[in-house]
Amino acid sequence: MKVTPRAEGFGACIEDIDLTRPLADETLAAVKAAWARHSVLWFPDQPLDLDQLEAFTLQLGPFGVDPFIKPMPGRPNVLELRREPDEKATNFGAGWHSDWSFQPEPPAGTLLHAEVVPPVGGDTLYADCYRAYDALSDAMKAMLAPLRAVHSARQAYGPSGVFAKETEARTMQIVVSEEAEQTVAHPLVVTHPVSGRKALFCSPVYTVGIEGMTRPEGMAILRFLFEHIVQDAFVYRHRWAPQMLTLWDNRSTLHFADGGYDGHLRVMHRTTVAGDRPRA
Ligand code: SIN
Repeated sequence: MKVTPRAEGFGACIEDIDLTRPLADETLAAVKAAWARHSVLWFPDQPLDLDQLEAFTLQLGPFGVDPFIKPMPGRPNVLELRREPDEKATNFGAGWHSDWSFQPEPPAGTLLHAEVVPPVGGDTLYADCYRAYDALSDAMKAMLAPLRAVHSARQAYGPSGVFAKETEARTMQIVVSEEAEQTVAHPLVVTHPVSGRKALFCSPVYTVGIEGMTRPEGMAILRFLFEHIVQDAFVYRHRWAPQMLTLWDNRSTLHFADGGYDGHLRVMHRTTVAGDRPRA
């Protein structure tokens, strides 16, 4: 297996590996180490069918739980992210987030396999929450250290959320629900269970406040952090090719699905790997 990291170490291309078959123990350990070290891995030329995508996911850990979106028929753990050429609804995932961070135990990782890639647009952007944390002053780190951020799915999937207000037809079946109103608090700065590094853990889509603070107080801090995390220096823009797989770490990254491909089909298959309760 060949690992080619980007210059900053954030993101790496993994080649000379066949994900259509179960990995040998040492290869799997090397993939897991690269995942913790580089946060975003991409594997070109992996012609995985859905059974093989599920099997590789399960080599990394049990499936995560995907709420609010109808999974593929007969595949409760696979989401199809599909946008038709004539679709006008905003592309799915077009806001910075870490997957399902409103869950008590958010998914450790997400896998996304490209079936149909548009000729223009449709990139995925990733932000490095490790380096975003490292770049803060000691005074800011000390202020953030004891804080817990409040996460909720309500801005996206709640009865007054973005999807509830949508007027354009969408191929993906989103389930708007009162359950999205629930909140969960996680440390604002988390320690990665494998790398031991600290990362900022908040996003504009799912983080709605800071425990013990008024909304204006909490949002002032959060707005600063949202802008800080997604500045160009910490962002990698991923260009897809058909049959490419990515695996990213939700504990140390945010991601954003870029649009710009109206008139073209885009189809991706997505699974998640279960994670633990984030800890400071
Ligand atoms: C997502 O999982 O948020 C979507 C990513 C993408 O479609 O690029």
